[in-house]
Amino acid sequence: GLTDISALLLSRIRDVADYPEPGVMFKDITPLLADPEAFTALSDALAGIARSTGATKVVGLEARGFILGAPVAVRAGLGFIPVRKAGKLPGATLSQAYDLEYGSAEIEVHAEDLTRDDRVLVVDDVLATGGTAEASVQLIRRAGAEVAGLAVLMELGFLGGRARLEPALAGAPLEAL
Ligand code: PRP
Repeated sequence: GLTDISALLLSRIRDVADYPEPGVMFKDITPLLADPEAFTALSDALAGIARSTGATKVVGLEARGFILGAPVAVRAGLGFIPVRKAGKLPGATLSQAYDLEYGSAEIEVHAEDLTRDDRVLVVDDVLATGGTAEASVQLIRRAGAEVAGLAVLMELGFLGGRARLEPALAGAPLEAL
């Protein structure tokens, strides 16, 4: 069941204290990626979410959302669309800026990769403040597509990302494994 999968996944995430700066507990997913049983279980669980939401495409958020999202797209038989940090995509892009704790950031998608007929599942490793996910949802809507849902490996509940995302998601599911 899902409880067993969650326990397996959690056991393969390494807490690294004071990284990348003092006071932060970093969630390192590299042990999970290196374990074929855990990585396969994660990919299958996310692919199940892709199917149940009726997604037509998978969007992965740079950089760890690429690693998790690509096998989900392959397993669900869907196309994979990268949402990148600004300046990395060669074609015509849509951009979305969002605020960070200090300063701001910008993400982009190739405009032609999403159409009005698409329902998009967004995949990422961690939901923290929700800023990145919120900007990706705005980007997908501006491209004319529908958001089927957001699926993450981990949600850091104490940062309030779920509440922040509620208006943007407008009823689309947020699944955290
Ligand atoms: C991390 C993480 C999410 C985002 C979550 O990515 O992988 O994409 O931050 O934070 P938020 O909910 O507060 O927006 P990061 O910006 O470190 O990029 P990287 O994966 O390229 O290192």
